[in-house]
Amino acid sequence: MTTLIVSPAERPLTGSVPVPSDKSIGHRALIFAALSRGACRITGFSYGGDNVATLRALRQLGVRIEDDERGNIVCHGVGLSGLRAPQGVIDCGNSGTSMRLFAGLLAAQPFEAVLVGDESLSRRPMRRVTAPLEARGGRFQGQPNPEKPGEITAPLRVLGVAPGERLGPLEYTLPVASAQVKSALLLSGLFASGPTLVSEPLVSRDHTERLMEALRLPVETVGGMVSLHPPADPSCIEPFELCVPGDFSAAAFVLTAGLLVPGSTVTVRDTGLNHTRTGLLDLMRAMGAPLGVEPHGSRLGESQGQVSVSARQLRASNVGGELAVRAIDEIPIACALAARARGQSRFMDLAELRVKESDRIAEMVKVLGAFGVSAEETPDGLVVDGQPDGQLTAASLSSRGDHRIAMTAAVLGLLGDGPTRILDADCIATSFPRFVGTLRALGAEVEVAS
Ligand code: S3P
Repeated sequence: MTTLIVSPAERPLTGSVPVPSDKSIGHRALIFAALSRGACRITGFSYGGDNVATLRALRQLGVRIEDDERGNIVCHGVGLSGLRAPQGVIDCGNSGTSMRLFAGLLAAQPFEAVLVGDESLSRRPMRRVTAPLEARGGRFQGQPNPEKPGEITAPLRVLGVAPGERLGPLEYTLPVASAQVKSALLLSGLFASGPTLVSEPLVSRDHTERLMEALRLPVETVGGMVSLHPPADPSCIEPFELCVPGDFSAAAFVLTAGLLVPGSTVTVRDTGLNHTRTGLLDLMRAMGAPLGVEPHGSRLGESQGQVSVSARQLRASNVGGELAVRAIDEIPIACALAARARGQSRFMDLAELRVKESDRIAEMVKVLGAFGVSAEETPDGLVVDGQPDGQLTAASLSSRGDHRIAMTAAVLGLLGDGPTRILDADCIATSFPRFVGTLRALGAEVEVAS
């Protein structure tokens, strides 16, 4: 198991760095490429463990994927009726998005498949995706969760449809905004006998809808409502090319480090700027951060550009409502901002964080405590008392196998009064394989020990 040793930053961080390609878009690009009717070229693929899990799963489903291991992928689409029964179980690793998207895709196929995951993924709730899929005829067997009656977890057996049968139409309102569930329902809707209508209380990330629209699928979005008509022609998805934009959720760590280490100025060269993802930029602005955002256009409906930031004394701010949804994966690193802001910051409407790769509310309270920052849990969030002056207490802690907790601790470690040790740091590779190299390129001192 890898340990990161992060030294306190003795000089400002400076430089312009790339970040890995967007993980959420990567999953979707691979899946739609596989369902297209020809060769699709995906460039800038960044080999985060989660995206690799999706790539392998598609290969198991009979899709030929060429990969030069330098981020250039050619995926030979098999059309909407070309997936084949997999050999063996499909291992989604740590990737909740893979498991839930494949639950939707595979529910509609005329064969059976079994989805498994690592220890963390095997604890995560799957009923949220299987229940609405069952309402349209999907069939699943999961592991009952004795602590939560009615809940199921992986391994998830997806029984598929009988040959010649199709899933039915669906009208469903999500109780909680979720792009994974919304996307699973839309994917299953490509194979259904009637329309799919999904509503969510707040708009979660909309990469699936954008890609479907760019690929001219009959999808329509109005506020929190998305509808899709099943295409009549199984070869309707034209082959496409996509250079996947950088992952804003990875950029978030780099930008926060630049904002917190005194004297720093850092730039992330190419990051996705999809509004449903960039809640952290709004929070940074509300805290007084000087940001430079330079849009560079869009690729298949996804805007991207460059973001720069310079270190600044921050003031506390609150997160809740739509901002909570638009920054759902950035809450751990937003807690690092709150830890250095003047005043008390309150994070609300975040009960979902309890069922991410770890219970991120409980873990962040522990992490902040380890750095000497006082924070308190609430049922749906946390309250952080900023400590803007002086150094933080250097910490020694475990990531608990959660990549975003590990990277947040590394950023806080730059502000410590001695070396910080982050145990169980291999998980960082699920989303940001070059995280350590990127921090070093900006001038940070980070060691990797095993
Ligand atoms: C994702 C959706 C979000 C997010 C996850 C990626 C996606 O999960 O937290 O990291 O790519 O669809 P939920 O759908 O559970 O909110």
